[in-house]
Amino acid sequence: MNFLVMGSGAREHIIGEKLSQSGATVFSIITNSNPGLISISEKTLPVNNFVNEQKKIIDFSVENRIDCVVIGPEDPLAHGFSDLFWKKGFPVVGPLRILAQIETSKGFTRDLLTKYNIDSSPLYKRFDSMGGVKEFIELLSENYVVKFDGLMGGKGVKVSGEHLDNIDEGLGYCKDIISRKGIFVIEEKLIGEEFSLMSFCDGKNLAHMPAIQDHKRAYDGDVGPNTGGMGCYSDSNHSLPFLNDTEISEAREINERVAQALFDHTGEPYRGILYGGFMATANGVKLIEYNARFGDPEAMNLLSLLKTDLASICNDIVEGNLTSVNFSNYASVCKYVVPKGYGSNPAKDATLIVDDSYSKYSDLYYAAVNLNKDGIITTTSSRAAAIVSTGKSIKEAEEKCETGLSFVSGKNLFTRHDIGKSELIQKRINHMESLR
Ligand code: AMP
Ligand code: GLY
Repeated sequence: MNFLVMGSGAREHIIGEKLSQSGATVFSIITNSNPGLISISEKTLPVNNFVNEQKKIIDFSVENRIDCVVIGPEDPLAHGFSDLFWKKGFPVVGPLRILAQIETSKGFTRDLLTKYNIDSSPLYKRFDSMGGVKEFIELLSENYVVKFDGLMGGKGVKVSGEHLDNIDEGLGYCKDIISRKGIFVIEEKLIGEEFSLMSFCDGKNLAHMPAIQDHKRAYDGDVGPNTGGMGCYSDSNHSLPFLNDTEISEAREINERVAQALFDHTGEPYRGILYGGFMATANGVKLIEYNARFGDPEAMNLLSLLKTDLASICNDIVEGNLTSVNFSNYASVCKYVVPKGYGSNPAKDATLIVDDSYSKYSDLYYAAVNLNKDGIITTTSSRAAAIVSTGKSIKEAEEKCETGLSFVSGKNLFTRHDIGKSELIQKRINHMESLR
């Protein structure tokens, strides 16, 4: 079968690799010359921007007799590429635009949960003017979060006490959104530990993946600006050290009910990956956000553990025949190498040098980098390469990941080394115990 992978980060590199290991032929649409994805692709179509190149992308798919499309990033989903491909006769793993609102609109998601009595939201309200904003923030005792209602690459959310030091700063951010003709949601600030649960979904059936924890803050100890994610870990029992079985069941049930609610609300089946971002709190599991795609870096951890072949999962998703999906009982740790200053002011001249000896300890997936004609790998303002290892325990995976990382060098690079280390995990366990 011929698969088309859209996107050219580390997530798409591993999706392409797993499809190719399933015996599929991989074609890819790339926005940077990712050396890993290029090396496993039969053919690539470089584009500057997906949205302006729709005709080229469809022509490429026709020419190469694509049987199935896998859309990696949120942007093409938000712009209706799934709708476009289905209309042209190409089955797609990745939801239609109306369903991708689960990621693109915070207000849509909160209202969907309310309409279908899925009681997992904090107190919230949508606003398109300043009317009632101050009163609502006061009602929440100034423990609140302001969320721009649209895609902002993780930068539209500001949390009181973290990004907003006082009520005037909160009101200032709301005014700023209004002056840009935006709308926003204000909600109660949840206290707890974050985790994610992704599920393959064919519109009716779900197959859940192991729970996983990302690290959004740029620096060790969870400080610094928010990023796309610096690294993740998952455990061999498919739960996380700070979660109990009830919390895992709650998260799975929320994903199942949301998939059903999406169908009931739109009449369309959600075919793709449903990514629930949750907070385990003293009052059970609450929803923070949904993504309409594989997480990045989560995909590197979980696809490394996947035992069922990815091409057949994709076929089952588009045909509505999804059954069970198996993951090995290993732990995983993934850490990103990024340009120094990533998240605020990334170094413009960072380069990446990879010594292939890493492969004895880990896998490496290239992200937003470019392989130049002279063989030098240059970085962009985003993440550069993901190093991922598996092991019988998180500790074993973490140590292998660090050894793998020691074979990656270059100018002006940075990695968050505390991810998956026992000190940080113990901090999360203690936090949850004190809340429970
Ligand atoms: P989002 O884009 O919705 O994932 O938000 C980005 C980050 O903001 C999340 O990963 C959380 O750390 C934080 N956040 C979002 N909503 C809340 C909330 N209601 N309470 C506490 N933190 C939140
Ligand atoms: N790692 C979080 C995301 O993919 O949105």
